[in-house]
Amino acid sequence: MKLWGGRFKTEEDSFMDKFNSSFNIDQRLWEQDIKGSIAHVSMLSKCHILSSDEAEKIIKALEQIHAEILDGSLFLEGEFEDIHSFLEYQVTQKAGAVGKKMHTARSRNDQVALDMKLYVKLSGQEVIKSLEKLISAIEQKSNESSFPMPGYTHLQRAQIVTFKYHLMAYYEMLSRDMKRIENALSIMDTCPLGSCALAGTTYPIDREFTAAMLEFEAVQKNTMDSVSDRDYIIEMISAFSIIMMHLSRLSEEFIIFSTKEFDFIALSDAYSTGSSIMPQKKNPDSLELVRGKTGRLYGNLMGILTTMKALPLTYNKDMQEDKQYYFESLDTVIDCITIIEGVVSTLTVKSENMEKATKGGFLNATELADYLVKQGIAFRDAHSIVGQVVKHCEAKAMEIDQLSLEELKAFSPHIKEDVYSYIEPSSILKQGTKPDML
Ligand code: ARG
Repeated sequence: MKLWGGRFKTEEDSFMDKFNSSFNIDQRLWEQDIKGSIAHVSMLSKCHILSSDEAEKIIKALEQIHAEILDGSLFLEGEFEDIHSFLEYQVTQKAGAVGKKMHTARSRNDQVALDMKLYVKLSGQEVIKSLEKLISAIEQKSNESSFPMPGYTHLQRAQIVTFKYHLMAYYEMLSRDMKRIENALSIMDTCPLGSCALAGTTYPIDREFTAAMLEFEAVQKNTMDSVSDRDYIIEMISAFSIIMMHLSRLSEEFIIFSTKEFDFIALSDAYSTGSSIMPQKKNPDSLELVRGKTGRLYGNLMGILTTMKALPLTYNKDMQEDKQYYFESLDTVIDCITIIEGVVSTLTVKSENMEKATKGGFLNATELADYLVKQGIAFRDAHSIVGQVVKHCEAKAMEIDQLSLEELKAFSPHIKEDVYSYIEPSSILKQGTKPDML
């Protein structure tokens, strides 16, 4: 069933028909489309554009279709151009000719914009919920992880931190990600319905009524903007991409930390897989897949940005591509958040190995410089003195705290016996801003 056959002389090419159809993708919007149609028809009746009897028949049919799709007696299938054509056909089947009045003062352009906004608002909340679970798993794991480990810059040992603090960095990243989604959801909270194709309508419709019924904050005023706006999809995929960037950094670190070379953590068997040839292998596939799927999100973000680039106002069929980008991005980001939540909450942390690693690599060199500064030496001079201490230690294959007081004094007479306790990992963590890490 076509919604637009009237002005055509010949049939659509059958391959073109398939090429044009988005039904296999946008059928995911069925519930939003029904909800939007009920609001639209209620408004038409309230504004006396449809009689209340007509509106009632259409709404009853829509509700029946909703129930039948839910209980599995009506399948989302058939040769339809899109979900809008499918539902209009079903309404007309059920309500009779009055069903053909449903599309009064509406276009698929404002209809699809509405459906997508409703879907994005709902699914945005789902992403927030899964982020909340991940964030609390991270918080829980970090509460058990108040022990020292090396902190890195350039992936070289730098200074002492705690594993708790390391994990809490991800807590902060993901909390920002949540705010980014909330912000995108609040910017997009305007209702496009009533824009019709692009230029509104000569009918005396009530756009405030539908906006309120569909729980939008406001009406999206400029009708040309509202049918061509896909900013909110771009913003959401962008926020999802940033989440994936964060998850991929966590994945990469956990992959590195779980190598024999580091041996700081062990993934649960539940999130690892084996090798078909090497019997001993336990591979961090969960993390590798999250790292890998990040590319998919970036691709989708670049894809939708490129689709929208230079599109003239208002609706163009190019925009039909938006759904595939969004649905794929949404499913991937939720899957990845869920997997990382599982990895984090089942993670074994080898605190002894982390602590052992803090003993090598001169993690306390900065604190020795701080010690000298406290004795009145300028920081730049202290830096240079400690640099020489480190050079000496490297030649002797020793750590700073293994040098005798005499050896240390040779570099600076200001160094006294109390230096050892000052540069001791547990005492470092008690000074200045550092107790935050415990
Ligand atoms: N399937 C279309 C889409 O997703 C619906 C809007 C069609 N509008 C049109 N003027 N052909 O974008």
